[in-house]
Amino acid sequence: MAGPDDVTRARIDDLARRVEQANADYHGADAPTIDDADYDALKRELATLEAEFPYLARVDSPTGKVGAAPSEAFRKVAHSVRMMSLENAFSAQDVAEFVARVRSFLNIPADATLAFTAEPKIDGLSLAIRYENGRLVQAATRGDGTTGEDVTANALMIRDLPRELTGDAVPELVEVRGEVYMTHADFAALNQGGEGRVFANPRNAAGGALRQLDPAVTARRPLHFFAYGWGALSAPLAATQSGAVERLRGFGFTTNPLTRVCHTTDDLIAAWTDIEQRRATLGYDIDGVVYKVDELALQTRLGFRSTTPRWALAHKFPAQTAWTRLDRIEIQVGRTGALSPVARLTPVTVGGVVVSNATLHNEDYIAGRAADGTPIRDGADIREGDWVRVYRAGDVIPKIDAVDMDRRTPDSVPYAFPQLCPACGSEAVREPADAVRRCTGGIACPAQAIEKLRHFVSRAAFDIEGLGSRQVEAFYAAGWIAEPADIFALSRHRDALLGTPGYGEKSVTALLAGIEERRVIALDRLIFALGIRHVGEQAARLLARRYHDWPAFVAAMDAAHDEGSDAWRDLIAIEGVGAVLARSLVTSFAQDGERAAIDRLVAQLSDIEPVEAPSIEGSPIAGLTLVFTGTLERMTRAEAKVRAEAMGAKVAGSVSARTDLLVAGPGAGSKAKKAAELGVRVIDEDEWLKIAQG
Ligand code: IVH
Repeated sequence: MAGPDDVTRARIDDLARRVEQANADYHGADAPTIDDADYDALKRELATLEAEFPYLARVDSPTGKVGAAPSEAFRKVAHSVRMMSLENAFSAQDVAEFVARVRSFLNIPADATLAFTAEPKIDGLSLAIRYENGRLVQAATRGDGTTGEDVTANALMIRDLPRELTGDAVPELVEVRGEVYMTHADFAALNQGGEGRVFANPRNAAGGALRQLDPAVTARRPLHFFAYGWGALSAPLAATQSGAVERLRGFGFTTNPLTRVCHTTDDLIAAWTDIEQRRATLGYDIDGVVYKVDELALQTRLGFRSTTPRWALAHKFPAQTAWTRLDRIEIQVGRTGALSPVARLTPVTVGGVVVSNATLHNEDYIAGRAADGTPIRDGADIREGDWVRVYRAGDVIPKIDAVDMDRRTPDSVPYAFPQLCPACGSEAVREPADAVRRCTGGIACPAQAIEKLRHFVSRAAFDIEGLGSRQVEAFYAAGWIAEPADIFALSRHRDALLGTPGYGEKSVTALLAGIEERRVIALDRLIFALGIRHVGEQAARLLARRYHDWPAFVAAMDAAHDEGSDAWRDLIAIEGVGAVLARSLVTSFAQDGERAAIDRLVAQLSDIEPVEAPSIEGSPIAGLTLVFTGTLERMTRAEAKVRAEAMGAKVAGSVSARTDLLVAGPGAGSKAKKAAELGVRVIDEDEWLKIAQG
């Protein structure tokens, strides 16, 4: 039966569609279809309705998109069920007292069973997401527990948050609660990936991403979500905590696989110990284990204190931070010439591991300020001799996230970042948009040369048996190898090698045989092995698939040097290859010294195996060029693109004579028109889903 909400929603949907159509007509090549006053009136009405009925607002509402001024701040959201905190415990004694308190409160005798769940406490940010009739309508941060901030547009960028719930008997209203977090790998990539800012830990990075005013920025920062609870519900999910979480999993949420049911204090402690032992290998930060009374009827009876439930407890892990003295700052020079500062510390135990080095990222991080003046940490700089707090997140390299200013001595001086490469004395320069200072010595710089060689022999590159990091360094020092091509001429130094302690007839023969074997190499490995800045394994694979063989690849790099050329456009049209990567690649091939070294290497190889694009059996869109336009309601544009590419299609941004198929959602404007003119086949989202779901 249609209620008043349905009527309002229909009106909101209708307004949104009309504004979207007007936007498309205005921003596309077409003439505007309505006059400004009418457009403003439509938009005002939509915004007013959305403000009054935030839970009915479409997540992709045009009021939050192009044409509208970006919001200065996030809209406030009142939580219909308060978001609570947890009582903390630090010892087994605390846990035993919690169990005893619960039993006594409920009057459950010692011999009657009482079940608890135990699950990791994720070190992220809590988020409440509201689903109506299975559709995501709103996401809000915790805020002060009573009022949070509306981050719906950003929440849509969270990988494992379904837009539509699946499974049986989804209640009309489901408000899911859980934790947003960033994995260690994504965090490390974000900090290395030239965004200019360096975050102290994954939690800060996730918080920053979630509270971005521009959702496109959030989209570039991979966020994840574990569902562990709920707020408002139109129907109960289950009789137990574990059952309810299982239902959430059935709806399409990711729940933590380490969640289990326990029956005694000893069980709880065993779960805690087990989870703590796995901590370093989880790939995301956790800071303890949460215990919850399993039976929901008992949770209700136990109720809440002012801010915490009586039925739950957070058993924290000992902190993985420690204070120590920063003895010295050293500069390491990497393969691409980057000067990376490293803190040499007085050794200290952090979370069971002795730490004596920590990364300092770049000169801005040391100075406590980004190039644009925004403070990093609390704005304090880092100096030799300072007492610093070392932070370790799982297997992520230790970092420094605070300085004890009270212990700074009066004679301490700010650290002067070197302007010359400490390895070769060449000038070290910093490009305006780069946080990193780089040595300009190129291959003449011994540090760069050694790192390039190390990269060349590494596992994902040439992977030469018997030639690891240490050997590379020793052979370089001996003057036997200065660049990759020299490795294939190492047999010239056979006698000298035999005279080296640790090398006998057998090992030298094996090493040289290992080198011979690699004269045949796959194109993607070769491209990766060149060690060109920004060209990682993934990019090398994409390039190899696109150009298939070495002559075609080299010809394309030469032709693409002109950024007005078709070759350049082809190169940057490869999904996953941006202008920065492309420029770095093309420049390397055009630089005389580097090119000569590449040619010398290739002359040593006997065969470069071509790489074929994976054939996608049975895919109806393999080899086709697709364009998406308008609003897709059941799949994000990003997901649709990934899916299409996985099925062997190319995805382009605009309709042209080369387009085979246009997928048009509501609000498709000029692109649909152009497709019609060009006779390109147009399908709607339903048809697309049929294709995408095979
Ligand atoms: S339950 C009413 N479960 O920890 C109980 N919280 O320190 C609500 N957290 O604000 C929380 N992992 O952001 C719960 N498995 C988990 C959790 C978890 C992380 C966070 C949550 C909460 C904070 C309290």
